[in-house]
Amino acid sequence: MAFGLCSKFQLSTYKRTILSWFWLSGRRDKGARLCRSHSSDVKDDLCKVLYLNSSGSDNRSFTGQIANEFLAKYRALHSGHVIEEIHLWDKKLLSFSLSHVESKMRIASGQDSPEDKLKLVAVKEMTSQLLAANKVVISCPMWNYSVPYVLKQYIDCVVQSDLTFSDTANGPEGLVTGRPLLLVTSSSSDFTNEPMKSLDFQVPYLKAIFGFIGFRDFHHIYIGNTKHIKREELITFARQRIEEEVSRF
Ligand SMILES: Cc1cc2nc3c(=O)[nH]c(=O)nc-3n(C[C@H](O)[C@H](O)[C@H](O)COP(=O)(O)O)c2cc1C
Repeated sequence: MAFGLCSKFQLSTYKRTILSWFWLSGRRDKGARLCRSHSSDVKDDLCKVLYLNSSGSDNRSFTGQIANEFLAKYRALHSGHVIEEIHLWDKKLLSFSLSHVESKMRIASGQDSPEDKLKLVAVKEMTSQLLAANKVVISCPMWNYSVPYVLKQYIDCVVQSDLTFSDTANGPEGLVTGRPLLLVTSSSSDFTNEPMKSLDFQVPYLKAIFGFIGFRDFHHIYIGNTKHIKREELITFARQRIEEEVSRF
């Protein structure tokens, strides 16, 4: 009898151990499929990657090719994630202008008309899309030591007080927190060392302005010196960088 009870007890303990092992491994499995993001419980199928594309549409664009290859690898690893692309050269995209600034000022001083609020709807839509993204990828060739104007235009649209940053007693605070940001950049000269490094107003600027609205987790794939190194060599190197970055993004 005692033996019977004991073996029953042992059996149920054994069953419980097996069951809890399955339960835990299931949880681990689910955990592995969670989106690595600002909100640790975002499910896979709700994970959004926003791709801000300021590359040329020419398929020889280094940044365009490498960003696309990165996203293809990323998609293979995370088939459930949704990738949204904004082609920043799209002429239909919002241009932030003086009239937007004037509407914002009138709203701030309480002297606005319904048109002022209407004017800012498109701005809010753009900031909402950025806030809804769990991860962001930017492709950006260097233009005149900095970024192509279409990317600056996008930045002027989305860097907005009370939408993507807030002014607090301790100074401005970014509201787009906890998301990883991958920069895919390229330049015809090499900006990795001085004296050229000090002339790089592209990557430090992107890190500063996206840092300002809350990004902290920066990743970077750089295809430099494109004028002096063979394309095949540069692409081979960039593909190695994709392998390194894609698993931790
Ligand atoms: C308008 C324009 C300005 C550029 N300015 C620079 C520059 O300041 N420094 C530099 O090294 N390369 C400059 N470049 C070269 C590109 O950054 C370089 O060719 C890069 O590899 C292009 O990347 P992509 O193939 O993705 O467009 C410029 C190119 C263009 C079209």
